Amino acid sequence: MKRIAVLTSGGDAPGMNAAIRSVVRASVYYQIEIYGVYRGYRGLIDGDIEPLYASSVADIIHKGGTFLKSARSEAFKEPKFRKQAADHLKAKGIDGLVVIGGDGSFIGAEKISEEGISTVAIPGTIDNDLAYTDESIGFDTSVNTVLDSISKIRDTSTSHEKPTIVEVMGRHCGDIALYSGIAGGAGTIIIPEEKTTTNEIIAKLNKDRQRGKLHHLILLAEGVQSAASLQEELKKQTGISARISVLGFIQRGGDPTSRDRILASRMGVKAVELLMDGHSNQAVGIHNNQVYHLPIQEALAITKPFDQEMYDLTKILSV
Ligand code: F6P
Repeated sequence: MKRIAVLTSGGDAPGMNAAIRSVVRASVYYQIEIYGVYRGYRGLIDGDIEPLYASSVADIIHKGGTFLKSARSEAFKEPKFRKQAADHLKAKGIDGLVVIGGDGSFIGAEKISEEGISTVAIPGTIDNDLAYTDESIGFDTSVNTVLDSISKIRDTSTSHEKPTIVEVMGRHCGDIALYSGIAGGAGTIIIPEEKTTTNEIIAKLNKDRQRGKLHHLILLAEGVQSAASLQEELKKQTGISARISVLGFIQRGGDPTSRDRILASRMGVKAVELLMDGHSNQAVGIHNNQVYHLPIQEALAITKPFDQEMYDLTKILSV
C-alpha cells in the first residue's frame, strides 16, 4: 500500500480531528503517502482530494469538528457515483481509504470496497449506537458537554422551582440521554429503547412535588418525541409548565475529552496498520480496552443490547 486517503462523513463528532491526525501521522511514520478527502463522500464524488503532511495536522488534536469537513451524501448510494468516487482515488494511485463516521458511513466504506478500494472504518459518532464497539469517538465528549449544560440548567430550575425538559440527540440509541442523565442526576430519563408513558412521567413529577421538590430534570432523547410536544402534553394534563432546552449542535461541538483523543489516536494508527497488512472492509473497534477489528458487515449486524442495569439506576437514584 503506497497511498491512502482519509475522510470524515455524517454527523461530526469531537475527536474526529484527533483521528485524522492519527491516520496522517501513522501514514507518515510508515512512509505511506496520505491524502485528505474534503466533505466526506460528497467530496469523494467531486474529486476534492488533497495531499496531507505531518504538518497539515499540527495543532488540531484538541479541536472539535473536523477540519476535512463532513457531509451526508445521498448520491453515494448510487453505484455510478461510487464508481466515479473510486476512479478519482485510482487516478491518484490511492488504493486505501480510511472512513471516520457512523453506521451510514460504514455502509459507504463497504460499498466502495467493491470498486477495488481497500477500506477501514473508524467509529466517529456522538450517538454511541455502533454495538460492536464499547465506545465511539465523540460520545464521551458529548456526554460531558450535556452534563455541563445540565448543571447550569439545574441551578436556575432549582431557584425557580420549575421542571425542565432537556432534549438531546439520539434517534434510535438513548446513550447520550442515559449517561448524561445518570451523571447529571436527572429525575426522569426517556430513551427510545424503553417506553415511558406520560402518566409515568406525571406520577414521578407528582411524587417529587409531594416531598417539596418542584424542579425536576427530564432528559429526553430526540428519537422518542420532541421536548416541545412533551411540554405541551404535561401542560395539558397537569397545568405544570416545564421549561425546555434543546441542546442541538452544542452537544456535537467542543474540544474532545482526553478519553476521545486517546481513543481516536489508538484507532487511527490501527486503521493504517490494517491497510498496510492488506486488510479491507474492516471496522476498528474497542472492547475491554483492546483495539480490535472485524469485517464491516459483521460489525453492523451486531445489535446493541439494552443496558437494563444502567437504566434501572436512574429509578433507584431518583426515588
Ligand atoms: O448521527 C449523529 C447525529 O448527531 C444524531 O444524533 C442526530 O439525530 C443527527 O446526527 C442530526 O443530524 P444533523 O445535525 O446533521 O441534521
